[in-house]
Amino acid sequence: MNQHWDALKDHHAAVEGRPILDLFEDGTRAAEFTARADGMILDFAKTNIDARGRALLLQLAEAAGLADKRAAMFAGAKINETEGRAVLHTALRNMDTPLMVDGQDVTIALRETHARMTAFADDVRTGRFTGQGGKITDVVNIGIGGSDLGPAMAVLALAPFHNGPRVHFISNVDGAHAADTLQGLNPETTLVIVASKTFTTIETMTNAETVRGWMAQKVANPAAQFAAVSTAAEKTSAFGIASERVFGFEDWVGGRYSMWGPIGLSLMLAVGPEGFAAFLRGGAAMDAHFRTAPFAENLPVLLALVGIWHNQICGYTTRAVLPYDQRLSRLPAYLQQLEMESNGKRVAMDGTDLPYHSGPVVWGEPGTNGQHAFYQLIHQGTRVVPCEFLVARRGHEPDLAHQHLLLVSNCLAQSEALLRGRSLAEATAIMAKKGLTGAELDRQARHRVFPGNRPSTTLAYDQLTPFLLGQIIALYEHRVFVEGVILGINSYDQWGVELGKELALALQPMLEGKADTAGKDGSTRQLVDWARG
Ligand code: F6P
Repeated sequence: MNQHWDALKDHHAAVEGRPILDLFEDGTRAAEFTARADGMILDFAKTNIDARGRALLLQLAEAAGLADKRAAMFAGAKINETEGRAVLHTALRNMDTPLMVDGQDVTIALRETHARMTAFADDVRTGRFTGQGGKITDVVNIGIGGSDLGPAMAVLALAPFHNGPRVHFISNVDGAHAADTLQGLNPETTLVIVASKTFTTIETMTNAETVRGWMAQKVANPAAQFAAVSTAAEKTSAFGIASERVFGFEDWVGGRYSMWGPIGLSLMLAVGPEGFAAFLRGGAAMDAHFRTAPFAENLPVLLALVGIWHNQICGYTTRAVLPYDQRLSRLPAYLQQLEMESNGKRVAMDGTDLPYHSGPVVWGEPGTNGQHAFYQLIHQGTRVVPCEFLVARRGHEPDLAHQHLLLVSNCLAQSEALLRGRSLAEATAIMAKKGLTGAELDRQARHRVFPGNRPSTTLAYDQLTPFLLGQIIALYEHRVFVEGVILGINSYDQWGVELGKELALALQPMLEGKADTAGKDGSTRQLVDWARG
């Protein structure tokens, strides 16, 4: 492996600083550095990856054993080695293809649960299942992390397809989140879904108690308006939720990969089983592309290689995700968990220290909002931030097509500006026209220079539909997998969240004055004293 990393670093040293714009001179670059899958295009021509860089990156992927590891994941091998688990979220969207794991066809149980989930969603949506006050008008999903971010992002993304009850999300242990969400809801017509893979997560269990208390003020039997999504059947029944409204899944579905199954119940309620099925089909289409397309044309592989180039080779520490699609405004938050919880690891699978950096900091906001906030830094700051644009050809508001045009023109303008920049000569000419001369002209012009040569990719698609959303999410999931394989890490555990959880539990009695703070550092002691008032 080392020689592949070294070759890439040498190549980077040779081409660093070269204007990306020059690469377009032969007229073929845009077509050659664009890949397609089921109507979606990934244009990575505005990066400093040239034909040799791409070849070296593809060799790196080959040398990492990507093809075999991909096959192992889809076949149900226990690739999550630190937890001894398979990684089979892909089975949730490919339920009609039998898959044997430990001698059993796991898709039988998946289909059975999916059918129960569909029947329940139909019952709620048609009014066969009611609350004490009649037809369900509102659904509250209580969950956090993977039990919240995916469905919350998708429910917002698919607003034009909503045809069921209103869906709300409570995640934060901050009581403000429950209080504000419940404002205006009628407990007698509200269905509550407690979504927690483990059914032990303190935020979710605390909020579940709070919402049950809120409902109990008006509803004789609140548990009858509760459903649960979890791998822990005995814990859901201990909470009092009847088994017919409990939807289970296996431990080989990681939390941040779980929205394709029962964790997606809130999404299914919002868009209906048909809409949800289209979402699954989109994911399955991306799976098929990922499994069969040559690496050089494979969207998840290419997106991952662009990521490796920017982060581990060029040393750019963050990546901005910039959807020019307002309804994808929660995509960056969703990707923060997907990518940073998966690939934010400092040791390799074998426990040795990682010889390069782990995955990047992922952040972002929808365009055009971000343009009026942080793009200043992206264009003229001292650090390079690779940008990932997402944009649809068509919106869902035909009457507002002129606004969509404006949106698209802004998206294209930003990637062009990042690429092209504005030279000192150009800035000087602009300011000279305004009448400036001498030292003042020079000073003012320098503030108006854009260095350019800043890399970006654009993921372009026709329209944000359930199918398309499925494609996008599966694309990002597989990108994480490919990056993880190349880095040699386990993308499917999350030990890094444990220490804080343990310390929070220990601090609770200290804040209540029931335990003393001896052994705590001075700063923490001081803050506990402050919190106690
Ligand atoms: O933050 C850690 C984590 O375990 C995530 O991986 C997970 O998505 C989230 O907590 C919620 O866990 P659960 O679904 O078990 O409540």
